[in-house]
Amino acid sequence: MRSLFKEVIYTRFYARIFILLSSFCSALFGLFGPFFQKEYVDRLTGVQGKISVLAHFPPETSPLWLILSAFFCILVAQAFIQMTNYLGTREALVLQRIFAERLYKKTLNMQVDTMSHRPVGEIVSLYATDVQGATVFLDQTLPAGASTLFPLLLAPFAISLLFEIPIWPTVLIMSLMTALNTLMGLRQSKFFYQFKQLAAERIGLVNEWIQNIRTLRILGWTQYFEKNIFEKREIETKNRVQMVTNGQVMNSLSSSVTFILNIIALGTLVIYSKNKITGGELFALLWIVGVFLTRPFRQMPWFFTFAFDSWTSLQRLEKYFAIENNQTIKELAEEKTTTQPTPDERYALQVRGLNLMISNRQILKNINLDVLHGEFVAIVGEVGSGKSMLLLSLLKETGAQFDFYHIGAIDAQTLTADKVRENFAYVPQEGFIMSASLRENVALLYDIDPDRDPMIEESLKLAQFDLSTERVGKGLQTEIGERGVNLSGGQRQRVSLARVHLHQAPILLLDDCLSAVDVDTEQKLFDQLLIGAWENRTRLLVTHRLSALSRVDRIVFMENGQIIAQGSFEELLARNEKFREYTTTVAQVKIDQEVIRG
Ligand SMILES: Nc1ncnc2c1ncn2[C@@H]1O[C@H](COP(=O)(O)OP(=O)(O)O)[C@@H](O)[C@H]1O
Ligand SMILES: [Mg+2]
Repeated sequence: MRSLFKEVIYTRFYARIFILLSSFCSALFGLFGPFFQKEYVDRLTGVQGKISVLAHFPPETSPLWLILSAFFCILVAQAFIQMTNYLGTREALVLQRIFAERLYKKTLNMQVDTMSHRPVGEIVSLYATDVQGATVFLDQTLPAGASTLFPLLLAPFAISLLFEIPIWPTVLIMSLMTALNTLMGLRQSKFFYQFKQLAAERIGLVNEWIQNIRTLRILGWTQYFEKNIFEKREIETKNRVQMVTNGQVMNSLSSSVTFILNIIALGTLVIYSKNKITGGELFALLWIVGVFLTRPFRQMPWFFTFAFDSWTSLQRLEKYFAIENNQTIKELAEEKTTTQPTPDERYALQVRGLNLMISNRQILKNINLDVLHGEFVAIVGEVGSGKSMLLLSLLKETGAQFDFYHIGAIDAQTLTADKVRENFAYVPQEGFIMSASLRENVALLYDIDPDRDPMIEESLKLAQFDLSTERVGKGLQTEIGERGVNLSGGQRQRVSLARVHLHQAPILLLDDCLSAVDVDTEQKLFDQLLIGAWENRTRLLVTHRLSALSRVDRIVFMENGQIIAQGSFEELLARNEKFREYTTTVAQVKIDQEVIRG
C-alpha cells in the first residue's frame, strides 16, 4: 500500500513548493528590515557604522526612506507569512476531502467479517479526528516548520554579517534550544496521541450506550455500563491536564528563549566586535533576536508536536485502510473440488464452491446451489447453520469466495457489489425501518411523488399491512421508526415485504421474514404474495415455519455451514434422518411456545 505520508507530500507537489517559497520570502524580507532600521538609526544619530554591508547607502538618502523601507520589508514579510498559512490551510482542506472520501468508500465496502471487530463509534472518530489530524502536516507542520526553519537558518548569518562576529555562539544556543524543544514536543505528542486514542474509545462506548440505552435500563445495567464511560473520562482528564501543563511549560520556555539569545548575542558582540558599536547596530541586533526570532522559537515546540500528532493520525488511517475487505483463504481457492458448470439459461442462480472464512473459522463450506428462474426455495437449518450468511454472501456482503457464481447469464464474480445487488430484493431477519414516513419506507425514497400512492397502498395490502387497523393514524404520511410510531416486529416485517413487492427485483432473498407474524397472517401472505403475486419471481426464503415447507418448490437443508440435503418436504422426511430430527425439534419448540402463551 502506498504510504499516506508520501501522499501528503506528493499530492499537488507544486503547492508544497509554493508554501516553502512563500515562507522563505517571508524570512528574507523579515531580515532585510533590520538592515534599513540600522541605517536609519545611524543616520539620525549621525554615527557612521563602518562594518555593515549596507553601509554604503548614498549619503543623500533621506532617513524617511530608510524607515519606510524597513516598514515595507516587515509588511511584506508578514504578508508572506499570511500567504504561507493560507496555502497550508487550503492544501489541508484539499487533502481532507481526498482522505474523507476514501474513508467513506472503505467504510461502505466493509463487509460483515471485518466489520465485526470495529465498533461503529471508533470509525466515526476516524472521521472526526484523524482526517483532520492527518492533514495537520499541511495546515500546521509545513508552514510552521518552514517559518521556523528559514529564520533560524538565516538569522545567524545575518547577525554574523551585520556585526562581523563569529557565527558559532548563536548557532550553539539555537541548537540547544532546538534539542530541548524537540524533547518537549515529543512528550506533548505522546499526550496528543493518547488524547485521540482515548477519545475514540469513549466515542465507541457512548455510541454503544446510546444505541442500547433502553435495554440497558430495563436490564438494570445502566450504572455498570456508565461506569466504563466515566472511567475513560477520568483517564482522559488526567491526560488532558498533563497535556496542558506540558504545553504551558513549552510555551514559557520558548518565549523566554529570546531573552537568553539576546544576552548571548549581545555578549558575543561585546566580546568579539572589533569596532565601536553604533546605536543603529544595537537596535538592529535587538530587533533580530528580540522580535524576528520570537515567532520561530514560539512555534518550534508546536512544530514538533503537530508533526508527531499528524504522524499518529496518518498511522491510524493507514491501519484502517489496510484492513482487507476480502479475507481470501488461498488454500481454499486452490483446492477446487467442483467442476465448473456451463452457464445455463434456465437458472436464475448458479453457485459452485462458495466458501466463507471469518477469523479463521469456516462459516460456509463448499456450497453448491442452483435455483431455477421463478423457483421458490426454502432454506432451513438450526440457528447458526449459516443461512443468513449464505444470503449475505450471494449479495457480496461477506467477502465469500466462489469457484463459480452466475446470476442468469452473467458471471457475478466480475460484477461490483452494487451491480450484483441490482438483481436482488432483500429482507433482513428483523426487517428494516428508517425514521421516515410509511410511504417513504415502502418506496425507499424521500419526497416521493404522491402519484405512486395507489401502488404503495396495493403493496401494503398484499403484505397484509392494513392501514385502517394498524394504528398508523395518518396513513401513508405516518412517521415510523425512531422518531415516530414504533412498529412491532411483525409490522416491520410486513412493511419490508411491501417494499419488496414495490421494487421489481427478479430474485428475492427473504431472511426469516415471517418469524414475527401470526399463523393466520402467514397463510394470507403465502396465498397472496409468496405464491400469489410473486409466483414468477425467484424466491429464497429462510424459515423455521414447518407450515411453509410443504408449499415451496424445494427445501435446502443446512448444517454447520454446509448444504446437507435438498428436495421436497416429503422427500426429505422420507430420506433424511437429520431433517426428521430437525422438524421434530422445531415442532416441539412451537408447542412449547404455545403452551407458554396459553
Ligand atoms: N459478523 C460476523 N462475524 C463473525 N461470525 C459471524 C458473523 N455473523 C455470523 N457469524 C457466525 O456465522 C455462523 C452462521 O451464522 P448465520 O448465518 O447468522 O446463522 P443462521 O443460520 O442462524 O442465520 C454462526 O456461527 C455465527 O456465529
Ligand atoms: Mg439467521
